[in-house]
Amino acid sequence: MNLLTAIFFIVMSQAFAQGNFNEEEVLRSAQESFKALPDKLIDEAQSRNIISLGKKLYLEKKLSASGTISCNSCHGLDNYGVDNQATSPGHDSTRGARNSPTSFNAALNSSQFWDGREKDVESQALGPLLNPIEHGLKDKAEALSKIKSNEYIALFKKANLKFDFENIGKAIGAFERTLLTPSRFDDYLKGDTTALSFQEKRGLKKFMRLGCTSCHSGVNLGGNSFQKMGLVKKYPTKDLGRYDVTKRSRDKYKFKVPTLRNVEKTGPYLHDGSLTKLREAISIMGEYQLGKKLRKHHLDDLEAFMKALTSKKDSYL
Ligand code: HEC
Ligand code: HEC
Repeated sequence: MNLLTAIFFIVMSQAFAQGNFNEEEVLRSAQESFKALPDKLIDEAQSRNIISLGKKLYLEKKLSASGTISCNSCHGLDNYGVDNQATSPGHDSTRGARNSPTSFNAALNSSQFWDGREKDVESQALGPLLNPIEHGLKDKAEALSKIKSNEYIALFKKANLKFDFENIGKAIGAFERTLLTPSRFDDYLKGDTTALSFQEKRGLKKFMRLGCTSCHSGVNLGGNSFQKMGLVKKYPTKDLGRYDVTKRSRDKYKFKVPTLRNVEKTGPYLHDGSLTKLREAISIMGEYQLGKKLRKHHLDDLEAFMKALTSKKDSYL
């Protein structure tokens, strides 16, 4: 082999390794499938009082039967909005059957909970308070009596809210609307192609090419549809998901597609918290949702891309 042929082979093999990567085309497809986070969902200056009341309630342990549980116990503001437990222990250490999804960016999801039984973060926030295995309060009156004090009455007044149960949800919801977590991927979507490494961009391209985007799309890379877990291969679970809400047989085993923002930090994965490693979750997706056994180099690149979705800020306390 002469020198020219050798150089030709080296150049070609590098081009091959980069998989004919067309920077502009990948960015354009990404901008079609996903959206950067908005800067704001709520006017933080105008709504300062309701937001700070909401934050105080989010952290309030008095709002539980045992006086030891707050929203923050399962959705840590310094822990990417999760508790990193397979399923969550509630007020007397009983456990529910589902993994706690992150409260970060949840306000952008088109519905709340794995089965979508609540429409927004305001209505969602009232559920856990009266749930026997979460905050464990008996009823609305008990919830209010737990926090009734001159301090809270004044704070509700300052936030322009009547001191009632529904407004606890309103205030917590207003606070949750501030929990947006911009990542390097958002910089990329806004046009800064240097915000991601080459491997992360290759992972992004594979994510789109393999068809992960048919379910994980939009601003949260998920959160906007219900999809069957085990689309091409039956996934073993007792949880009927969306069916519990609609009672339509076609909704059996459908779950709200989880957001992939901060996914590196929000394990264990799936509605049942059965997988501890992100890599495993990616591999299971290939197998059960796409009918593909993903090879090591695919898993490496997809995992690298997914880590680029981690927030640049690590505490919202
Ligand atoms: C004991 C643990 C626990 C506590 C306490 C708790 N949650 Fe949750 N949270 C969960 C679990 C588990 C789910 C999923 C349940 C389901 O889908 O059926 C969930 C779901 C959510 C969701 C839905 C996110 C999405 O994308 O679907 C939000 C938002 C949320 N919780 C916020 C809150 C707020 C606000 C509070 C306090 C009022 C709170 N949680 C208290 C465990 C907890
Ligand atoms: C047919 C729709 C569909 C496709 C295609 C799909 N997913 Fe998913 N994905 C889901 C659903 C639904 C869940 C939640 C399943 C559950 O909890 O049982 C999920 C969960 C995940 C999770 C775990 C997130 C968490 O917080 O628990 C990761 C990671 C993930 N998907 C990545 C991918 C990747 C990477 C691809 C492409 C290789 C992909 N998904 C393709 C629907 C899909």
